[in-house]
Amino acid sequence: MAFRNLLIADHDGVRRISINRPDKLNALNRETIGELHIAFDQARHEDAVRVVILSGSGEKAFVAGADIGEFASATPQQAQAFSRAGQELMARIERLGKPVIARIQGFALGGGLELAMSCHLRIASEKARLGQPEINLGVIPGFGGTQRLLRLAGRGAALELCLLGAQIDAARALALGVVTRVVAAEKLDEEVEAIAAQLAAAAPHALAAVLGAVLIGGEGAIDTGLDFETQAFALCCATADMREGTSAFLERRKPTFSGI
Ligand code: COA
Repeated sequence: MAFRNLLIADHDGVRRISINRPDKLNALNRETIGELHIAFDQARHEDAVRVVILSGSGEKAFVAGADIGEFASATPQQAQAFSRAGQELMARIERLGKPVIARIQGFALGGGLELAMSCHLRIASEKARLGQPEINLGVIPGFGGTQRLLRLAGRGAALELCLLGAQIDAARALALGVVTRVVAAEKLDEEVEAIAAQLAAAAPHALAAVLGAVLIGGEGAIDTGLDFETQAFALCCATADMREGTSAFLERRKPTFSGI
């Protein structure tokens, strides 16, 4: 399907989804959120897709937030629907069952940081600027930011970012645990590609099991997470990829994972 606001490209098991509204710093309007729902649904159902890279077009921004022009005149009912649509998108990404890497070259603000936090890995350029500036507009994060920031970086960071609304640089985001890695701007693509290639070559059932176990464990009591981990570990042991991975280790060769 053709998208108006997204660019899609595939290479060696890696799907690249790029939000393509650079003149609006890739701000998330309703249409873009709807297209992202469809794009991630496709990525979920296509077996050839092993990993997704999510990025924003242009040099300046990953995503500079929800589209302010669009929600500025929203009624409370419309704002509720907009928030729900955003939250459901973030949940869809978080629960994709395949790793999603956010490539953050510039601004990741508001809904942009919320989108990045729903991805499993966040690789940032040293030029990236991140934050939850909604308080400056008289609102709060509405796409899950208060909850994911709390879980990712703790209560102190969540309160600081959401209450003060200031932008932080990539080094501070790394120190807070908001991003996974920070690299020089000119190394960003190389780093993202290398991680994506590693994940695309890994055993998909095992990747899905890690994603599920960490997600479930983060949401509930540790016993629930441990139960999930046990079941997922046992299920991995029923796959051909597990036999290949363990045999390859014992035979001192590189494994080739088939996804079976
Ligand atoms: N929603 C809608 N449009 C946005 C946007 C957003 N969240 N962020 C940027 N834009 C638009 C601007 O309106 C401008 O459009 P225009 O050229 O048609 O006027 C264009 O993107 C470029 O932005 P501009 O503000 O001129 O760039 P800048 O380099 O001076 O500043 C930012 C960059 C990111 C600091 C600034 O755009 C900003 O503060 N954006 C809003 C961030 C925010 O509050 N996000 C949370 C929203 S809930």
